[in-house]
Amino acid sequence: MERSCLAIVLAAGESTRMKSSLSKVLHPIAGRPMIAHVMESLAQADISSAALVLGRDAEAVEKAACRDEMTVSAFLQTERLGTAHAVLAAREAIAKGYDDILVVFGDTPLVTAEPLKAARKGLAEGNDVVVIGFETEKPFGYGRLIVKDGALVAIREERDATEAERKITYCNGGLMAIDGRKALSLLEKIGNANAKGEFYLTDIVEVAQANGGKAIAVAAPETELMGCNNRAELAAIEAVWQRRRRHELMLSGVSMIAPETVFLAYDTAIAQDVLIEPNVVFGPGVTIETGAVIHAFSHLEGAVVGKDATVGPYARLRPGANLGPEAKVGNFCEIKKAEIGAGAKVNHLSYIGDAFVGAKTNIGAGTITCNYDGVNKHITNIGANAFIGSNSALVAPVSIGDGALVASGSVITEDVPDDAVAFGRAPQTITPGRAKLLRERYLAEKAERKKISAE
Ligand code: UD1
Ligand code: CA
Repeated sequence: MERSCLAIVLAAGESTRMKSSLSKVLHPIAGRPMIAHVMESLAQADISSAALVLGRDAEAVEKAACRDEMTVSAFLQTERLGTAHAVLAAREAIAKGYDDILVVFGDTPLVTAEPLKAARKGLAEGNDVVVIGFETEKPFGYGRLIVKDGALVAIREERDATEAERKITYCNGGLMAIDGRKALSLLEKIGNANAKGEFYLTDIVEVAQANGGKAIAVAAPETELMGCNNRAELAAIEAVWQRRRRHELMLSGVSMIAPETVFLAYDTAIAQDVLIEPNVVFGPGVTIETGAVIHAFSHLEGAVVGKDATVGPYARLRPGANLGPEAKVGNFCEIKKAEIGAGAKVNHLSYIGDAFVGAKTNIGAGTITCNYDGVNKHITNIGANAFIGSNSALVAPVSIGDGALVASGSVITEDVPDDAVAFGRAPQTITPGRAKLLRERYLAEKAERKKISAE
């Protein structure tokens, strides 16, 4: 029989050290709130029920934490009296009766499913409490794990530890699994006679033993347990996340010339045999299909790049940019909410927004879709195999037919039929010898002015 599990996510912190008007668990890692990463790891560990313990920004945090496949309930911890007190804020959820209770922190977003599963396995093997620990060279500030003969006998907080205990390098990551049938009675026995006067969740280790139970620790990599208390730690966590994800992508067949300069979002999807050049930034919602090349210094967000398409260098794809196979978007081009058909080219200095560009169409340098009239956005429809001459302004709403040709420098305000030529600029005139005449006149006038000022 599979064991039932309730995850309790502690997120009632004041976030004082973040110096922010936002709860820290809402600060983004890879483009989405920290707490959403924690929830994803829970989902990957096959946990389908979670109780959130919230303080400030409760509504927004709940919204950020919710996932379709998970039942999430929320509880307010109005007074912050410690981690055990926080867990008890979810008393009602615990009382529903689960085999396992898994306590995680909303500000520890790098934890993966593995140690969560390992902690639950420890419960299944007959332990009452399984604590997720880590080895570190810098144990300062963490609770120390006191292990004897394979059993975890106590967790000592920094402030309450003796000189000898402070030398221990095996630390409490803060996350733990508790036997769900005993959790409430154990939690209720925790007191607050310690240096901070708080109800420490960590005391559950000694309480469990006093009641005839057993506790153990399972080790996880230190990076998975990095907590976020300030913005420097936020950046450090982001860096670990980025490194981890780049590595996964490279192992899945994506080439990166300078991976440390590529920034990914939580949902960036890149297929095999894609090349990402240096200094590329992915915002949320990007999919890159196989064989595509993203040249240096490009910024992509909410975009799809089709098979064998190329982007950049220095291109910006904004939400709704959808490049077909073998399409090309070159330097200093911005594409927004626009379909660029298969093999179409937008190679230099263009803005294409709210538009459809047909297959194999060539958009000349400096072409602009004038999609905004100051109040409304309008659509530009360009057919297949069309040619838009350089420096044209296409004033939307406007359509340009298949195979049509727009003369360069045109301002197009009316629809152009299939295979037609549109010429939307003043005709050129030639006046022979006029330039020479003008030059001689200007020089003569200048000489005259000099003579007058010298007199
Ligand atoms: C805790 C552990 C410590 C461990 C460290 C790992 C305890 C007593 N100590 O210490 O052994 O090494 O984590 O990072 O558990 N929270 C609430 N309500 C409260 C108190 C805390 O929701 O009343 C939440 C915080 O928002 C945070 C988490 O619980 O997400 C941990 O609390 P924090 O005060 O940061 O604990 P530490 O002192 O870091
Ligand atoms: Ca902490």
